[in-house]
Amino acid sequence: MVAARARAVNRPALMVVADLRALARRAAERIVESVRRAVAARGASAVALAGGETPRPVYETLAASALAGAVPWGAVDWYFADERAVPADDPESNHRMVRETLLASRPEALARLHRMPADADDAEAAAAEYARLLPDPLDLVVLGMGEDGHTASLFPGSPALDVRAARVVPVMGPSVPFRRMTITPPVIDSAREVLVLVAGAGKAETLARVLGGPLDVRALPAQLALRGTWIVDAAAARLLGGG
Ligand code: 6PG
Repeated sequence: MVAARARAVNRPALMVVADLRALARRAAERIVESVRRAVAARGASAVALAGGETPRPVYETLAASALAGAVPWGAVDWYFADERAVPADDPESNHRMVRETLLASRPEALARLHRMPADADDAEAAAAEYARLLPDPLDLVVLGMGEDGHTASLFPGSPALDVRAARVVPVMGPSVPFRRMTITPPVIDSAREVLVLVAGAGKAETLARVLGGPLDVRALPAQLALRGTWIVDAAAARLLGGG
């Protein structure tokens, strides 16, 4: 019974698409749909963006396609689900990645791209300040998943997984750059929409555990996003049961 319950709980809205190109297109469409829905309902949209490599073609596709014309850019504020403790022009910076993709041809929107100050000297104070800036709830949180099952910068076994009072905290990750800053589980729980993007054969085993295995958020923090919509490519979905 437990397995069935776990399986029942682990069944998010799942879209399996052919490849990264298809994932980029479908995810870009979902982001635009979500932003338009929020602006139609409340006059504004607050989106927290994932970093890393998977979202790069998503943001490029959104910015370069006809989809961009459907985005009410003046009503959207862009935030970050996490950031590395590096300067804004560092190649490892998620803020730099978003500047170079989503907003590459929209410098006027940069004023609405709110950098997460992970490299601040007083990281605790900077995290608290960013949390005050971060709308509650967010309209959309875009997340990825690491091969170790992390999401944002919520890594397996991290004390940040138990944080309920703070919405943004500084953390130490397992790989360079070690110092990071991340949203905490309550921010994912309260978001109006959650979108998770996973691509590549290297993630197939972890994805199968996250979506089909027992609930164990401490080991697989990406399970915090099971309530969301998961867009995954066929390579990452290779080990998912059909049933
Ligand atoms: C980051 C991301 C991180 C990412 C996963 C997957 O800052 O690195 O926010 O959580 O989503 O590590 O990264 P890839 O998309 O590069 O595989």
